[in-house]
Amino acid sequence: MTNQDKQEMVVTPWEVSGDIDYDKLIEQFGVQPMTTNLAERIAKHAGGMHLQLRRGVYISHRDLDWWLGEYEKGNKVGLYTGRGPSGHVHLGHLLPWFFCKYLQDAFGADLYFQMTDDEKFLHREDLTLEEAIRLTYDNSLDVIACGLRQEKTHIISDSDHISHIYKLGLKVAKRITFSTVKAVFGFNNSDNIGVIWHPALQAMVSFLQSDREGQNIPCLIPAAIDQDPYWRMTRDIAEKMGYYKPAQIHAKFLPGLAEGGKMSASQPETAIFTTDPPKVAAKKVMSAFTGGRDTVEEQRRLGGRPEKCNVYAYYYFLFEDDDEKLVDREMMCKNGSILCGECKKQLADRVKVFLTDFQAKREKAKDVLEDFLLKPVK
Ligand code: TYM
Repeated sequence: MTNQDKQEMVVTPWEVSGDIDYDKLIEQFGVQPMTTNLAERIAKHAGGMHLQLRRGVYISHRDLDWWLGEYEKGNKVGLYTGRGPSGHVHLGHLLPWFFCKYLQDAFGADLYFQMTDDEKFLHREDLTLEEAIRLTYDNSLDVIACGLRQEKTHIISDSDHISHIYKLGLKVAKRITFSTVKAVFGFNNSDNIGVIWHPALQAMVSFLQSDREGQNIPCLIPAAIDQDPYWRMTRDIAEKMGYYKPAQIHAKFLPGLAEGGKMSASQPETAIFTTDPPKVAAKKVMSAFTGGRDTVEEQRRLGGRPEKCNVYAYYYFLFEDDDEKLVDREMMCKNGSILCGECKKQLADRVKVFLTDFQAKREKAKDVLEDFLLKPVK
């Protein structure tokens, strides 16, 4: 591929497209690269290093060293992440939620989980508010199915729980000017005034635990790097409001099943949804892009290209926990001893097992959903 063939990278909370250059993003966003030392510090508290840390899925951070340091001094720490409920949850969304489960167990931290049904309603022409709210509860089943602890997880629907979050949201909104949100998010005069207000609500959850508990609690936000503009804005106002700046840890994007691009709900044939019947998901895997050679003979002779292959990426991000087996697979691909069809079939089988198990957990989550929702402060 020549430089001219490369598609320009766009990474915003609402659009991720083009060829993503993470080094460039780290520079553009002014964030710190993730280090082995930080991964090891997390692993020490967790009693093991999560696959996503071992494999470099988390590429950058802001103030993660400070957040860990606060915990190491014996202080309480908190977590915050979220979802914009506009459709079914796909495997990419699950990456940061699985990681939150690991961090919640390791640090005994409360997780505030925001469902921005307001954001999705305001940004999407085709979505009614009623549907966005329905999706909040539907997507919450996925959050719960990730194994989070009920007593330490607080799911917030912006619309339904507004009375618990509005006052703090107002205090945040008063600190943010129109020119700031224009500069950070690119809003313009034709945007509705709801989208201009929403960033205040996404920012305020960074301070919610501190506000509810009446003491400053360091907050860490695990998410893919597309959400970073919100945190840049939030960090600018935090100290003026008397709170700590929220820390972040940023993930790479799980790719879709087609060539290039992240997994995205807007291309359903290239995304695996948690609600896909396992057989349907397996079929999608069998049609995935691999970057394999044109003929079997060439593949045997030249080998495959795992660095270009999305099927390999799925083993790497999610479906092969054993590092040695992952290296074996890479070698077998490169030396032509495993063909793409076989590799896809093995992945399809794993995806079927994963979805069958996850869907059973999702069903069970219906019985406890109510217990996970944000409660008024006692
Ligand atoms: P949303 O619904 O776009 O995405 C939910 C979470 O999934 C991450 N994500 C991915 N991670 C890896 N690979 C992918 N292909 C992929 N696609 C999406 C996103 O980074 C996000 O972490 N406005 C937010 C909701 C929100 C939020 C938050 C997210 C509110 N508060 C705090 C993170 C942290 C949204 O629409 O997320």
